[in-house]
Amino acid sequence: MKITVSVIKADIGGFVGHSSTHPEVVAKVKEYAEAGCEKGLLLDASVITCGDDIAIVMTHTKGKDNEEVHKLAWDAFVAGTEVAKKLKLYGAGQDLLADAFSGNVKGMGPGVAEMEFEERKSEPIIVFFADKTSPSAWNLPLYEMFADPMNTAGLVIDPSMHDGFSFEVMDVYSGKVVKLETPRELYDLLVFIGATSRYVVRAVYRNRDGEIAAAASTQKLSLMAGRYVGKDDPVLIVRAQSGFPAVGEVLEPFARPWLVEGWMRGSHTGPLMPVSFKEAKPTRFDGPPRVIAAGYQICEGKLIGPNDLFDDPAFDDARNRCAILANQLRRQGIFEPHRLPPEEMEYTTLPKVLEKLKDRFVDVGEPEAKAPGSGEGEIAE
Ligand code: 13P
Ligand code: 13P
Ligand code: MG
Ligand code: MG
Repeated sequence: MKITVSVIKADIGGFVGHSSTHPEVVAKVKEYAEAGCEKGLLLDASVITCGDDIAIVMTHTKGKDNEEVHKLAWDAFVAGTEVAKKLKLYGAGQDLLADAFSGNVKGMGPGVAEMEFEERKSEPIIVFFADKTSPSAWNLPLYEMFADPMNTAGLVIDPSMHDGFSFEVMDVYSGKVVKLETPRELYDLLVFIGATSRYVVRAVYRNRDGEIAAAASTQKLSLMAGRYVGKDDPVLIVRAQSGFPAVGEVLEPFARPWLVEGWMRGSHTGPLMPVSFKEAKPTRFDGPPRVIAAGYQICEGKLIGPNDLFDDPAFDDARNRCAILANQLRRQGIFEPHRLPPEEMEYTTLPKVLEKLKDRFVDVGEPEAKAPGSGEGEIAE
């Protein structure tokens, strides 16, 4: 059976501040998801949370970008927002940028990751869900899962993975997409996806047969709204086993923490901490950024799960390292590189402060530096 997995997520109000969700809001979203199953639109649905964000994991046979499925998620988030407003939760309706639904939630605030495939004999998938970060947080782990044989032994050992995977990369500023094939174009891929402020991995395909392997949300709220409205807190769907990385290979990148953008006011760098569902509550300096891994076996379109995959003492070391990195970064306070560089601060509230001070700058006769990319000062051949 050909099925579609759609994961649509939004922050519709935090409890308390931006730290977590309120049970009444989650219950309202679940009510809509269940109604979608009852009326036959969905095969199944599962509602998960990470920090102040809620994701609806849905299975159906309607394909990607289906208006009815997107509308169901939108309506669920609108209804949840009403509850959040009633309780005066923080930032109620934060991610719902549009006044009314218009065909597809893309561009309206919520984050979306979708994939369509023929259900295999056994179909394990993992939905990763992060808070206090942005879509490019998946660039590094996706590279390791699908292109690094030091992480994924199957790339070397399993003949069905040996041809490698292709990455679809989006330039979030132009909206253009490029597909790069690994291992052949690995270094080209890394030129782009190492630049996390601009390039985001959107999807991964298996070279052998073009099968979809992973799909991520790429929505950048600030670029949609043109101002700071909270971070994009992304989702990622990954298929595992039988020609895809094993579940353990998919989880392995998270055992060694790395730094992502999005901590405190969306303006700071912090380590991405892999946590159990219960611990997905970023409180210290509104963080550090968190990620959960919800595992499902899909059975005739039904979501068997979720299984809380980071609820494992084997990830304690990663969590401790995150705490140590968090201390080190906090030492920098408001100084870079804990604070994000100026280009990334453009969509925060900082420009308002700069605006107030701009007339205080006076010319003291120093030559003006040439802007990067102007050609001046480049190394001669
Ligand atoms: P406000 O308190 O003005 O909302 O800003 C702080 C914050 O939490 C940023 O999202
Ligand atoms: P969210 O993007 O999760 O709402 O967090 C906002 C923030 O800036 C917290 O400090
Ligand atoms: Mg929030
Ligand atoms: Mg959030």
